Amino acid sequence: MKATAFAPVNVALIKYWGKSDEKLRLPMNSSLSVNLTKMGTVTTVEWKKALKQDVVSGTDPGRVVEHLNRIRQLAKIDLRARVETKNNFPESVGLSSSASSFAALTLAATAAAGLKLEEKELSRLARLGSGSACRSIPDGWVEWQKGRSDETSYAKSIFTKDHWDLRVLVVLLSQKEKKVSSTDGQVVAETSAFFKERINGIDKKIKQIKQEIKQKNFTAMGEIMEEECLNMHAIMLTGKPSLIYWLPETVRVMQAVREWREQGLESYFTINTGQNVFVFCLPKDEEELVRRLDKIEGVIEVKREKIGKGAKLFA
Ligand code: PMV
Repeated sequence: MKATAFAPVNVALIKYWGKSDEKLRLPMNSSLSVNLTKMGTVTTVEWKKALKQDVVSGTDPGRVVEHLNRIRQLAKIDLRARVETKNNFPESVGLSSSASSFAALTLAATAAAGLKLEEKELSRLARLGSGSACRSIPDGWVEWQKGRSDETSYAKSIFTKDHWDLRVLVVLLSQKEKKVSSTDGQVVAETSAFFKERINGIDKKIKQIKQEIKQKNFTAMGEIMEEECLNMHAIMLTGKPSLIYWLPETVRVMQAVREWREQGLESYFTINTGQNVFVFCLPKDEEELVRRLDKIEGVIEVKREKIGKGAKLFA
């Protein structure tokens, strides 16, 4: 009763921010993301008769045990598990570690329990662990339709990873841990005076960006993605309490990307709950952008990524 799974980090172009149901982690809006190829989490789960309690590690063991409870219930087993998990990137700095962690945990724990769930069921279950985790299950370009209930809120692939060869540069800045987690930040989203406005406009934005992705219009897609990142951060900045996830070096990267764009070197940024920046570009500009990003004060590392598959089990 042992299985190992890998799940990728996913980067949202249209963000999930705010829930309509806290417990079920139902989102206020649909969202859209891409999986990365290399950055992610590898998790091994073993259900064992000899264990008296679950053996888990990491930053939030209570949440992992809660997720194991869901899987125990589903598989109708009364066993405890040993969970070993490894992220190949820094945690709690805005790189969406909870997404890849809960997606990998969902796949490994259900497989180890003998459950053979379909993608939709895996995505739903991952969502209960961490909302954005539902998007790390399917391949490539992924849409999470908000749905109205536990059954109808899950993510689906809308284009394969090979549909469009875009590059994602993951710009790692200070490794300082953020003070407010996404889960806590989301709770106050609705206190922003701009939140309603954001929600009202988001379906139209998703429709538009899907069209641009389909037609591979990089400029139009990038403009929507960047505006959307700032739109979400505007909610964070203007909530009660107000949340500022950026560091000075975050803003430095944002400004540089815009300056280079004016000079004809095209790329667009997006940022989650943290200081690090994801820069999207075309393959032809990757080399030059990495060279320039590396030189910015405060940049620790630039990881080169492509668009990748969803979660998978190791044989
Ligand atoms: O799944 P959570 O609770 O970690 O929230 C993720 C929130 C963002 O990363 C900021 C946006 C997103 O859609 O990934």
